[in-house]
Amino acid sequence: MLEITNSVAVITGGGGGIGLSLARYWVGNGGKVLLADVAEPLLAAAAAGLKDLNGDVRTIVCDVTNENDCSRMADFAIEQFGRINLVAPFAGIIKDGLMVSPDMATGKVTKKMTLNQFQSVMNINLTGVFLTVRECSERMINNNCKGLICLISSTGSLGTAGQINYSSSKAAMSVFPKVITAEFFRRGLAAKIRCVAVAPGYVGTPMVKKVGQAVLGKIIEQVPIGRLIEPEEVASLIGELYRNESLAGEVYFIHGGLRLGSKG
Ligand SMILES: NC(=O)c1ccc[n+]([C@@H]2O[C@H](COP(=O)([O-])OP(=O)(O)OC[C@H]3O[C@@H](n4cnc5c(N)ncnc54)[C@H](O)[C@@H]3O)[C@@H](O)[C@H]2O)c1
Repeated sequence: MLEITNSVAVITGGGGGIGLSLARYWVGNGGKVLLADVAEPLLAAAAAGLKDLNGDVRTIVCDVTNENDCSRMADFAIEQFGRINLVAPFAGIIKDGLMVSPDMATGKVTKKMTLNQFQSVMNINLTGVFLTVRECSERMINNNCKGLICLISSTGSLGTAGQINYSSSKAAMSVFPKVITAEFFRRGLAAKIRCVAVAPGYVGTPMVKKVGQAVLGKIIEQVPIGRLIEPEEVASLIGELYRNESLAGEVYFIHGGLRLGSKG
């Protein structure tokens, strides 16, 4: 079993939501955190809150779609802490919409998902994860670090209407744990650096809450446990995935029993 005490987590998208909850959990268990986000004001507020918890925390502004930013972030973690033990590339966005929207009255398409709407989600949720994981893995290997790469997929990876961009990004990313575990196995690294993903259902973060009360009510009707997942519950699952060294190469769902589009 791995211990969180004194281990170093690099968390992107750490300015809010699940990333920030994970950071709180990590410092609460004696770990150290490098928090990265594209939004500087969010980062500053997050860091202040973590320091109030006596957390050993550094921050870096980083756009995960930018290769140099990701490289700088990984270097900074090594400079500041000498190692990386957990990589949590949690920066992500949604830009929902139907691929094509026919008008109810005429039956003709009046609106389409734009190319930017598709590509910007893929860039952050997929390419950004690739860059973060590649740069951090390189430093972990070169600095002889032990730990976990923990990605964040979604129940959306199974296919959600209105999310062809988001669902595709999460479905593609869900194969990373298998590929990375197999590649590390080939090089004799798989026992040292494991890779998994968590796939939450609807979590009570700003990303979900911005849909408004009416839509939230409809979402919750579909969840057997009758509520959103708490970000702290996702963080606790990640803590267990980190500690338990038999867990590798898999996607772990956490969704309160949700079955998309049905009441089970
Ligand atoms: N909330 C949910 O229900 C839910 C469910 C499944 C998966 N997820 C995934 O969890 C992750 C975190 O989601 P959340 O709900 O905490 O969202 P959130 O919107 O609360 O936080 C996302 C963070 O990512 C940052 N970010 C956005 N673009 C960035 C970029 N280019 N570079 C660096 N940082 C960037 C934002 O500034 C924000 O702080 C996402 O990958 C999301 O897809 C969320």
